[in-house]
Amino acid sequence: MIDKILILDFGSQYTQLIARRVREAHVYSEIKPWNAAETDLLDTETRGVILSGGPLSVVAPDAPKIPAAILQSNLPILGICYGMQALTVQLGGEVAPAQEREYGLATIQALVPNPLLPEGELTVWMSHGDRIKRQPAGWQVLARSANSPIAAIGNLEQRRYGLQFHPEVRHTPQGALILQRFVIDICGCKGDWTPASIIAQSIASIQQQVGEAKVLSAVSGGVDSSVATALAQRALGEQVYSVFIDTGLLRKGERHQVETAFHPLLGERLMVVDASERFLSALQGVTDPETKRKIIGETFIREFEATARQIGQIDFLVQGTIYPDVVESQGIGASQAQRIKSHHNVGGLPSDLHFKLVEPLRLLFKDEVRAVGEALGLPHSLIWRQPFPGPGLAVRCLGEITHERLDTLREADAIFTQELEQAGLLQLQEDPSGKLQGTSQAFAVLLPIKTVGVMGDQRSYQEVVALRAVTTTDFMTADWARLPQEFLARVANRIVNEIPRVNRVVYDITSKPPATIEWE
Ligand code: XMP
Repeated sequence: MIDKILILDFGSQYTQLIARRVREAHVYSEIKPWNAAETDLLDTETRGVILSGGPLSVVAPDAPKIPAAILQSNLPILGICYGMQALTVQLGGEVAPAQEREYGLATIQALVPNPLLPEGELTVWMSHGDRIKRQPAGWQVLARSANSPIAAIGNLEQRRYGLQFHPEVRHTPQGALILQRFVIDICGCKGDWTPASIIAQSIASIQQQVGEAKVLSAVSGGVDSSVATALAQRALGEQVYSVFIDTGLLRKGERHQVETAFHPLLGERLMVVDASERFLSALQGVTDPETKRKIIGETFIREFEATARQIGQIDFLVQGTIYPDVVESQGIGASQAQRIKSHHNVGGLPSDLHFKLVEPLRLLFKDEVRAVGEALGLPHSLIWRQPFPGPGLAVRCLGEITHERLDTLREADAIFTQELEQAGLLQLQEDPSGKLQGTSQAFAVLLPIKTVGVMGDQRSYQEVVALRAVTTTDFMTADWARLPQEFLARVANRIVNEIPRVNRVVYDITSKPPATIEWE
């Protein structure tokens, strides 16, 4: 039995951050929308409840409410922002509608010793409209700020608390400590959510779901499919059939890297399907980006069907769905999340193959997926690699896709990646001032034009490579990476010197939006 914290979502943009901070304290947390069925909310493993913030006013006529089952339980509760105001109103206190929103850093002063807040002054991040006028009977004011005379409240005996500020954001430097105190000291969670316990639990649940059946697991070389496959393999051994489809649209050395990474785990049981000729002939003469994506998606489906037929009676398919996808499609903002996913599933696994899905990463955030992958012994380089789109180099080889042009692109991309790695720029780092250094994603693009150059005394008329490098944490918005000029000069020099078919290199200096990260 793993201790659990329920996070009730009132629509805050920070709800997932609350779950992540709790997990960072090695406590399992689950997000449920505030209006989920009451029977779905609490179980015998729940040790406490956190109520998220939210965009609405608690005094609005149909404001979201805390379900009675939660208030009637004896569980500790922490209300954050909207959660605090809802607690106040529903327990008989009073909330004043806001004249204006308080937004930004504030200093609060703890007034009463308590197990939640560190003593003295704290810097915190405020973002709220309504404020508490009078706390419920039996509750104390625990802290105040210049603008919020009631910045934190609590009923110490009942182990229930409310915070006007956001402990889950990094702008509240002691916020992670506050959440840790709530889940460990106040709720009494053991801190048993560790890679080892995640692996054990996941293996047990895969075995229970699948029994003796055969399972197909496709690896793409990305983090999620690799970790999902490794977990399935641990759980089911020889019942797992793993397939890696070489589309011919992979980066230099990628097929070899995947084979090497999986050899210790799967041995000869990793089926590598060389489908490159089928993909490239399907793409012959196609230049439109959306048509390329569609053809690749369809070709993938055909390859999966063929593989499944070869193995015979396959009922289950392993898929690397991770927790943010699950949360985004279960509640507030679902429609947008689904749209983004369908776009990014292109080239991933088809939905109409009538397999039952095994999704061992369904409850994990990306950083947990990585920690599990490391604990399973997957290579560091695979666990920390940058994202690569499902359609592969097809969407980076602008214009017509040919063997020759793909080779040119692969060489240029390999030079760029190698130089980034040598310069320590292949990963994103935060410098002491909070600025992002290095790259979140960096690659070469082959443009569909030729330009004139001069090589020795010869006129040349050759291809153009664009270098794209961005910094981002969510990939929804991104800034172009400020790579050092000398570094870019070195990369450009190597590309034009080592690849005869390229005579010009340009660097992309647009952010997203208005551009996207990929060029197609
Ligand atoms: P954009 O280009 O939309 O990319 O700014 C955001 C992130 O998504 C990746 N991407 C894709 N991944 N199939 C995928 O699996 C796709 O069709 C696709 N398009 C973009 C892109 O590499 C970046 O990380």
